[in-house]
Amino acid sequence: MTPLRKTIAVLPGDGIGPEVTAAAVEILRDCAATFGHQFDFREFLFGGAAIDQCGTPLPEETLAGCRSSDAILLGAIGGPKWEALPLGTRPEAGLLGLRQKLDLFINLRPIRLRPALHGISPLRLERLEGCDFEIVRELAGDVYFGEHTLQGTGKDARATDLAAYSAAEVERVARYAFERARARKGHLTSVDKANVLATSTLWRQTVTALAREYPGVTVDHLYVDNAAMQILLRPAQFDVILTGNLFGDILSDEAAALAGSIGLIPSMSRGRDGQPALYEPIHGSAPTLAGKDVACPLGAIFSATLMLRESFGLQAESHWIEAAVDRVLGLGYRTADLVEPNGRAVGGREFTAQIRSELKALLLHREHSGASL
Ligand code: IPM
Ligand code: MN
Repeated sequence: MTPLRKTIAVLPGDGIGPEVTAAAVEILRDCAATFGHQFDFREFLFGGAAIDQCGTPLPEETLAGCRSSDAILLGAIGGPKWEALPLGTRPEAGLLGLRQKLDLFINLRPIRLRPALHGISPLRLERLEGCDFEIVRELAGDVYFGEHTLQGTGKDARATDLAAYSAAEVERVARYAFERARARKGHLTSVDKANVLATSTLWRQTVTALAREYPGVTVDHLYVDNAAMQILLRPAQFDVILTGNLFGDILSDEAAALAGSIGLIPSMSRGRDGQPALYEPIHGSAPTLAGKDVACPLGAIFSATLMLRESFGLQAESHWIEAAVDRVLGLGYRTADLVEPNGRAVGGREFTAQIRSELKALLLHREHSGASL
């Protein structure tokens, strides 16, 4: 593989965001040094940190920096400090603004369990057998981006949130999900609430029509309440789950729990081909953990490996890092969220240092055995 030169915008954000992105950047630097790539990291203010310094969660400079980068690595945003602010001015508004401005209409959340961590899953091993799926969540529409109103006070108060989808919005994300399914096990589960909602009726019609273009992909439709149950009862039935913005938000946290900790799950938010995609752990800013060196860096590190694969096409590099992570877990190292009863936790820094030393060990092993990575 010829060495690549890439610019990566880093948005550490709030809470544990800065510490977990720092860990991921260290690993990406190791990757660049080992494979001869050049990754230029450019850090920008975002979320609550940006509100504090610039009065807005998404400063112009941050947006411009993201637009002109090849990929974006985000930590997390939000926290109690900014919770009293009006909805549209909070850190979350920065994230929604970034998704909208960059037209990130696809959100991918891979649910993969690490073999060494089966013991911390809330499910019994026999239910987990074969569990490996992806959630494709629509990210630019639905009730997230419709009009929100809150009027009156006390008993007279009334609030509304408008959920809207156009057929084109459904089709573009569904097409992506069909392509993913075709490249995987060929099974797509579309999740909606078509027994009640008009947006879901349109969703189902659009997915059904598109299915004709993908004869190799089998399609199931589940109502969201049933899907929530099936994720716990028979997670191995899923290959690619396609759903709307709000349902995807909820189901992806539920699915993340299967892996044993929400701290493990990465995500990619992307738009059309050739535009910069955004990678972030799905765990959020966890303000009570911030600055204590207890946060698990794996969600951020897996976000980095997802970036290497999806944005840069660097499969071997991604595989090398994930292999090092699995070795560290296999040796019994755990951050606090990953320990089993009576187990011992190490800090996030030591955990990251162990991964870096396993990265080196894997290289030495390769040199000795003459095998490729
Ligand atoms: C997520 C988060 C965001 C969302 C919040 C922080 C706005 O929960 O990425 O899942 O609801 O999309
Ligand atoms: Mn969420």
